[in-house]
Amino acid sequence: MTEGLLRDGARSTGGLPRATARENLALATTFFLPSLARGTITSSPRGHALTTRLDTMARAQRVLSGLRERYGGRSVLVRGVSGPTVLVLERADIERVLTGSDEVFTLASREKLSGLGPFLDGTLLLSRGGPRISRSAFATSVLGVSELYEGFARVAAEEAATLVPGVLTYSAVNDCWNRVARRCLYGEGARDDTELSEVLAGLRRAGNWLGVRRGRQARLSARYDALIAGHLSRAEPGSLAGLIPSLAPGAEVCPARQAAFWLMGFTVPPPGLMQALALLASFPGGSLSPSYVRACLLEGLRLWAPVPALMRTITSEVTWGGETLPAGTGVLIPLILHARSPQLPYADRFAPEIWMDGTAEAEWLLGPFSRGPGQCKGMNLALHVGTAFLEALLALARPVLERPLGDPLPLMLDTMHLRLTMEPRLTREPRLTEEPPRLAEESR
Ligand code: HEM
Repeated sequence: MTEGLLRDGARSTGGLPRATARENLALATTFFLPSLARGTITSSPRGHALTTRLDTMARAQRVLSGLRERYGGRSVLVRGVSGPTVLVLERADIERVLTGSDEVFTLASREKLSGLGPFLDGTLLLSRGGPRISRSAFATSVLGVSELYEGFARVAAEEAATLVPGVLTYSAVNDCWNRVARRCLYGEGARDDTELSEVLAGLRRAGNWLGVRRGRQARLSARYDALIAGHLSRAEPGSLAGLIPSLAPGAEVCPARQAAFWLMGFTVPPPGLMQALALLASFPGGSLSPSYVRACLLEGLRLWAPVPALMRTITSEVTWGGETLPAGTGVLIPLILHARSPQLPYADRFAPEIWMDGTAEAEWLLGPFSRGPGQCKGMNLALHVGTAFLEALLALARPVLERPLGDPLPLMLDTMHLRLTMEPRLTREPRLTEEPPRLAEESR
């Protein structure tokens, strides 16, 4: 791309285009600041309500469209939260970053290190080099043991049944799902350990302060580690913790740290579950087969991504757009905005079919679980248990929203304040047991 192809006033030094001061300000006020208000590590109910009322995402989407138009759809160097950052706008660049080396494009970005560093030190997400390789293999060999999944689906169904009939709120679903998470991860002995989930919630809230509340994080972290160690020591058969002793992981793997992180992974699905139910309430009539319910879960995660952006930091010089970017440059893939890109014909409508016919898999603008070497290691587990949870709810009751979502779907949904009435079904829906189609993403 030459300067001649850029619209008037845009700056390019022959390499990546640079956002102007005005564009940086627009990005900061419509994307970065609202993201901080919503919570970078955990969602803040007040921040969610406020940013949804202000419809900040629509403003951010307009800023992104402006950048695409001005710079010919190329990725742009912007001023990010932690300094110069490539805002990735091109499909080919998304593919390049996500399939590239996780040593060069490290997941342990500056923002994550400041928000999560104090209590997630030693976890896969924040690891590099040799330790990252052994921790990644360990995570895959524990989280991918599908023989345990049937038992987990039963746990999810049992807990989900306690929610109906009644009105589903975010906090009721969250508490119920936390029981599912503790049972799958650490076994029956952890079912009622609500303190564990509360300490984790406190740690995540402290993480939102991007390293400012380190003292509080350290205190909570010590308590969290002690509770996790207690649960791991039982190594309950049928739970993920029960698999660890037979794998005999080396000290470098820090199994307790990984097992502590997995509970955090399990805090991501509740917004997705609420969103899927809101979609099913608004667009009834689907088959309720496992593959359709799973597609609805994925569609909720696309439309209102709980992980709104992927962040990386470049660790050694990288040539990009004809220029050399120094180590320390940030990389930002705004998943939540790409998933609603005007380039996608289904951007703002309910389109579960894209998760069943290969469309989503082929589209680099989509990836609620990321892709490539940094793809979520709990993806299959989360989708399996989440689908079982939804299936059990839907077999017993029909979700109803007082004001169903319309078409086009809103860019922002105040998931934490949704209320869904579960109307008991007169006859139990027959459980459709066809195998869900394997997403090709899973084999990447
Ligand atoms: C709906 C549920 C979930 C979603 C949408 C989700 C999404 C993600 C995303 C986007 C990443 C990449 C982060 C990045 O690039 O910075 C990630 C990483 C990860 N997730 Fe999940 N996640 C979910 C559930 C889980 C669960 C249940 C677990 C574990 C039990 C888990 C374990 C992990 C791990 C270990 C990583 C780090 C991967 C690595 O560093 O290579 N996730 N997840």
